[in-house]
Amino acid sequence: MGAILNYAMHERFTSIGSQRRMEMSAVYHLKLSKKSIKGARIALLPGDPGRVPVIASAINNEGASEIACNREFRTWLADIDTHPVVITSTGIGGPSAAIAIEELAQLGIKTFIRVGTTGALQRHIKAGDVVITTASVRIDGTSEHYAPLEYPAVSDYSVLNALVEAASSVNVRSHVGITASSATFYPGQERVDTFSRYVIRDLAGSKKEWEHLGVLNYEMESATLLTMCNAMGLRAGCVTGVISERSEKEKIIHSKIRAAEGNAIAVAVAALRRLLTDYPPSP
Ligand code: URA
Repeated sequence: MGAILNYAMHERFTSIGSQRRMEMSAVYHLKLSKKSIKGARIALLPGDPGRVPVIASAINNEGASEIACNREFRTWLADIDTHPVVITSTGIGGPSAAIAIEELAQLGIKTFIRVGTTGALQRHIKAGDVVITTASVRIDGTSEHYAPLEYPAVSDYSVLNALVEAASSVNVRSHVGITASSATFYPGQERVDTFSRYVIRDLAGSKKEWEHLGVLNYEMESATLLTMCNAMGLRAGCVTGVISERSEKEKIIHSKIRAAEGNAIAVAVAALRRLLTDYPPSP
């Protein structure tokens, strides 16, 4: 006889109130429908599900609420004036980010801003600062399923501009440039303080090379986001808060995580306000 699995317990964690009766039109992983996102055109994408309500309350402390939660994909909806904004966590890395982007695009989202954390590759970039990505080195793996490697992973100009202007408007120290977007946190970012203490030949020396080529930082989702959005005619940008200084050491600087996340969120939300007024998403 097969094992009796307690799905009732699982259900309690994955369904939210009336969302339990999902509409047939809901997308499979995100458990969202056009109706549940109320015609939203713009989405903020943190990696971490725990950061979703923090971002939602930074947008609108009163009116924000959770509308779905399944696996790593947690979604809140918050209004800015009359504009609904979706905040969905992507989980870590390209494969799960690609699912979130694909399903949000199916529901009508046209503009995406990744809000995450990052490791700095240049000495002048300090923990707590933010990096605004102009373009990403495509070492994410996933983006090759959307466009050949020759195709660039670049930010949308209006989203990039909004992020840069937003950073100065909220007085956050920012750095604008190229990001290396890795499929892995450990070998792809040449970490050797690991179980195996080994990085394969293809990746050995890669950190020094990116530093030498002026790459600002490492993270894990921007190449997938920027490649997919360009390939699909959508707009995207990326802001990340620095939580490790990789020219100094491998470890995460825990004392700076709050500041880094807070700064990235402040910049993303200020950019969102600019995008909704100065550069309204096309219908
Ligand atoms: N995210 C990454 O991908 N790397 C870091 O070092 C920190 C955050």
